[in-house]
Amino acid sequence: PELDSLINLYDFEYLASQILTKQAWTYYSSGSEDEFAHRENHAAYHRIFFKPRVLVNVGEIDTSTVMLGHDVSVPFYVSATALVKLGNPEEGEKDIARGCGQGEFKCPQMISNFASCTLKETVEAAPSKDQLQWLQVYVNTNKSITENLLKEAEKLGLKAIFITVDAPCLGRREKDIKLKFTSDNNPQSIKKTKLESSIGASRALSSFQDAALTWDDVVELKSKTNLPIVIKGVQCVEDVLKAVEIGASGVVLSNHGGRQLDFSRAPIEVLAETMPILKERHLDDKLEIFIDGGVRRGTDILKALCLGAKGVGLGRPFLYANSCYGRDGVEKAIDMLTEEIQYSMRLLGVKSINELRPELLDLSGIKNR
Ligand code: FNR
Repeated sequence: PELDSLINLYDFEYLASQILTKQAWTYYSSGSEDEFAHRENHAAYHRIFFKPRVLVNVGEIDTSTVMLGHDVSVPFYVSATALVKLGNPEEGEKDIARGCGQGEFKCPQMISNFASCTLKETVEAAPSKDQLQWLQVYVNTNKSITENLLKEAEKLGLKAIFITVDAPCLGRREKDIKLKFTSDNNPQSIKKTKLESSIGASRALSSFQDAALTWDDVVELKSKTNLPIVIKGVQCVEDVLKAVEIGASGVVLSNHGGRQLDFSRAPIEVLAETMPILKERHLDDKLEIFIDGGVRRGTDILKALCLGAKGVGLGRPFLYANSCYGRDGVEKAIDMLTEEIQYSMRLLGVKSINELRPELLDLSGIKNR
């Protein structure tokens, strides 16, 4: 269909389910084990309601904000996803870079350590000087590999390092495992594709992740770079407090899109619990809180921002948009979200991102649990 006929992110998801190879769709869409955390990430947003303010002058809406010291035109970002070429075999992450920088609204892009393009290719593909790119890092058991990667990121002009800490081992994605068995047992029906070997590659790469990683290692890595360090995959307030203690620039409240520990809590609920504690201890300006998982609507983003998040990440939706339409799909997804945010801010009675506050939310649906 014409790109213009798509109206929200679910349209990309549906289309991707129809056009992606079985392997790519399974790898992108699945969660771990019973996929409860995956479903709950999104469902938890449905338990939070708005308390709009009326008769506010909302003629002009400004969606811009600041993340890690840099101006950005939207309060959300593309989160890191491995193997973008599974869905967009020619251009992969390069098309995400283009889509993030070619439109009116520039969206930050977090590039996966397991990207299918080189870091240099993805950086050089970015069309605008004003677009932010960050690097996501899995710490390698061989520390010098990770340190060299940090140096490369600095040299290439990336603006932050996100260290993923929720994956000491790969979550059990049973749909991936099942598909691998059916394809192994049925060589005629499923051709041995590049895609399959890429998935194999992702598993092999994962074995390089360091299961022995601790807070001390993050402190050490932090001393090796001048870039801000953000810890991705934090899932409780106690660990947010530890991140403050070691002087991290931020954390991402995330359960990896429900792909790691099943029954890990929805990040939006962790955020609702965390911010009041940080405020009470006057620590809320000590680090920036990011969040991802299950975000599909402008209203989801606004709820997270009301609760104090600085930036809101989306993974799968951008993979789907990029797989279906390449760079233009990515730009369209950014426009859809921005438009939804503008509409909803107007209806909520706020003109700018810094006016978003917890008082605009009814949290009784989650506090009573
Ligand atoms: C991911 N995610 C991820 N995270 C990370 O730090 N490094 C990575 O390489 C990947 N790879 C990856 C692949 C795929 C296919 C998915 C779906 C996710 C997790 C990602 O950054 C983010 O936390 C979640 O995707 C957010 O959830 P939603 O938006 O997909 O619901």
